[in-house]
Amino acid sequence: MVERVFQQPPRKERGTLGGEDDKDYDSPLPGARWKGTVMGTTVISIEDAVVSYREDVALRGVSLKVTSGEFVGIIGPNGAGKTTILTIVNGLGKLLSGRVSVLGSPVDRGNGHSLRKRVGYVAQVENIDPRMPMSVREVVMIGRYGVLGLFRRPDRHDWVIVDEMLELVGMTQLARRPIGHLSGGEQQRVAIARCLAQEPELFLLDEPTASLDWKAQVEILDLVKQIHDSRRLTTLFVTHNLDAMPHTCDRVVLMKEGLIVDDGTPDKLITTESLSRLYDMPSPVVEERRPHIHVKES
Ligand SMILES: Nc1ncnc2c1ncn2[C@@H]1O[C@H](COP(=O)(O)OP(=O)(O)OP(=O)(O)O)[C@@H](O)[C@H]1O
Ligand SMILES: [Mg+2]
Repeated sequence: MVERVFQQPPRKERGTLGGEDDKDYDSPLPGARWKGTVMGTTVISIEDAVVSYREDVALRGVSLKVTSGEFVGIIGPNGAGKTTILTIVNGLGKLLSGRVSVLGSPVDRGNGHSLRKRVGYVAQVENIDPRMPMSVREVVMIGRYGVLGLFRRPDRHDWVIVDEMLELVGMTQLARRPIGHLSGGEQQRVAIARCLAQEPELFLLDEPTASLDWKAQVEILDLVKQIHDSRRLTTLFVTHNLDAMPHTCDRVVLMKEGLIVDDGTPDKLITTESLSRLYDMPSPVVEERRPHIHVKES
């Protein structure tokens, strides 16, 4: 099975929808790998999910459907349950009740590992030990381990993919530098490259711009959107910071205290009134700090 994945056609043939080559892809969802699922297919289905960590109830009955190709922003204050949603999509969370299906299969204890091969996850804040004895390039290769399996060593094809991803995120120049010797923004780019190296169908990002300066933040947001479009991914982008929300989201989901309180287009939901309710802040304060998500590029 693993072998067939590596007999994929050369890269130039990827990124197109449909076509003869689909049969060469050993994906559980025919034609899905790198080609995008058929537009409009439900790729995430969460039904009445309840998640509890001892005394804390992180999700109190959450339902969400995401269709292929959507770019969904999940926003809400600290502790709202945003990261928890990503963990149940990724098969790492434990449901007290409810159901979750991802990429056509119910998520349960048995299939978390195979699911995570198809779901790319850029986690919230990764603290890297500056002494970590790995180069940037080697760290990005970690993204391929799920595809490689236990017994196959990376070959030329894998390194080609790693180098392509480094180029995509603008990190080719620093490919041989120790991973611990990078700035926060550079580390974030490497985290994205590592996630893409696994050739995911679903792209989950948890606060990917936290702790970055304004310029790095804008660059990462643009990069994520560019990757979403060019790779035809389905993307869930989580943040508590409205200024870090890509204004290019197709849809926003507002979360508060373990519940989805609203779900719709940014134009409808990113209003002074709804943000004031979401963050428990008076309208004049929200108005004064109007986040840039209001400004749409023409
Ligand atoms: N491992 C854990 N053990 C105990 N409680 C947890 C754990 N992870 C999360 N929680 C609790 O679950 C709730 C939701 O947490 P979650 O991390 O999903 O929030 P969030 O919306 O991602 O917040 P933030 O914006 O701060 O990242 C919080 O009350 C949190 O304290
Ligand atoms: Mg979080």
